[in-house]
Amino acid sequence: MLQGKHIVLGICGGIAAYKTVSLLRLLTKAGAEVQVVMTPAAKEFITPVTLSSLSRKPVVSEFFTANTGEWHSHVDLGLWADLMVIAPATASTIAKMAHGVADNMLVTTYLSAKEHVIIAPAMDLDMYRHPTTQRNLAILAGDGVGIVEATSGQLASGLEGKGRMAEPEDIFEHIRDYFDCGGCLSGRKVLITAGPTYEKLDPVRFIGNYSSGKMGFSLAEELASRGADVTLITGPVSLQCHNAAIRRVDVESANEMYDAVRNVFPSCDIAIFAAAVADYRPKNYVEAKIKREKMEEAVIELVRNPDIAAECGKIKREGQITVGFALETDNGLASAKKKLAAKNLDFVVLNTLQDKGAGFRTDTNRITIVRDTEELTFPLKDKRQVAADIADAIEASITHDLN
Ligand code: PMT
Repeated sequence: MLQGKHIVLGICGGIAAYKTVSLLRLLTKAGAEVQVVMTPAAKEFITPVTLSSLSRKPVVSEFFTANTGEWHSHVDLGLWADLMVIAPATASTIAKMAHGVADNMLVTTYLSAKEHVIIAPAMDLDMYRHPTTQRNLAILAGDGVGIVEATSGQLASGLEGKGRMAEPEDIFEHIRDYFDCGGCLSGRKVLITAGPTYEKLDPVRFIGNYSSGKMGFSLAEELASRGADVTLITGPVSLQCHNAAIRRVDVESANEMYDAVRNVFPSCDIAIFAAAVADYRPKNYVEAKIKREKMEEAVIELVRNPDIAAECGKIKREGQITVGFALETDNGLASAKKKLAAKNLDFVVLNTLQDKGAGFRTDTNRITIVRDTEELTFPLKDKRQVAADIADAIEASITHDLN
């Protein structure tokens, strides 16, 4: 898939630069033609000679080669590249990219790039989680830059946390997926439901559940970063969208969520139902706060809510892809398979509360993607990485249908 592809590989000044040698090796072995562009600081971490030997091209770092006066054209590089990858991407380069500070060859090339750009951030944990860096990453995601999330673990500083550059093999996988799929999510209309629903009993009480919305929001960010046109319909959560391209619709109850979904579903290409929707709601809403002293025992009469995923399954068009979730406590696989058929879904993402760190509220999840022909089980991962696995499965299914 990478045979003859032109890739600009940008390297910034971070300790993770040593890992980029392996990435370069993977790319050239797969047949890609790679032009390395380094920031001046990157050369303090790794020598240009190593990289030019592996890429068989002189490394570009300055606008001019001092002794020959040769000018390196960022415009030509931008036109030449089928893809630009920046690994590691430091906080400083991310900030410059987000704000168009074109004071070195790498950022200038980024601004000239005509095709997709993927970055693999790497920095210390405090720099990574700093609101400035997160804001800048959100700007880049909104601009359509693909972000291979940093991972957690021991950092060069000796501290433990999130900020390690993703492994070269994982970055390579993203690059391969990009070319395999040809950016096939770009421009596709994606509907995602997220969070819980609240079913009101009286002005102060409701029936709800523990969903935080993290899984659905991670999916929205991941798909938007791959160029999809995302509408996120969410129940009450305390999360923010970072990607400015995500259209967010806030709802409270299952009925409100159903109405919002009905407006969007007919024109969407892909729908992902990650919300934990209440199956029932109180039959009667009591206008004034229900007084405790009035009753010794209370019985709440419930009526069924619409099954949003199932209703969409009934009107699903040819070519539309629908993905449901199954949150189970037992008999997970059998229940997921039942939901796959009953709701006319293409996949069901099974997560079970028996797995520690999976399901509600956590930052992680452990999923099995269930299709009618196969089941794919993944290890426990950060929800954004889980979202990437789900997005990969959707891309693979689109690529399969196109071939
Ligand atoms: O939000 P988080 O804290 O990150 O937690 C994530 C999650 C656990 C909520 C998420 O990963 C998840 O599993 N969401 C679906 C939970 C659920 O309601 O599962 P279910 O097995 O009851 O429903 C099956 C499918 O039908 C789901 O896709 C659900 O969105 C959909 N459904 C269910 C009932 C209903 N009335 N309408 C629906 O659309």
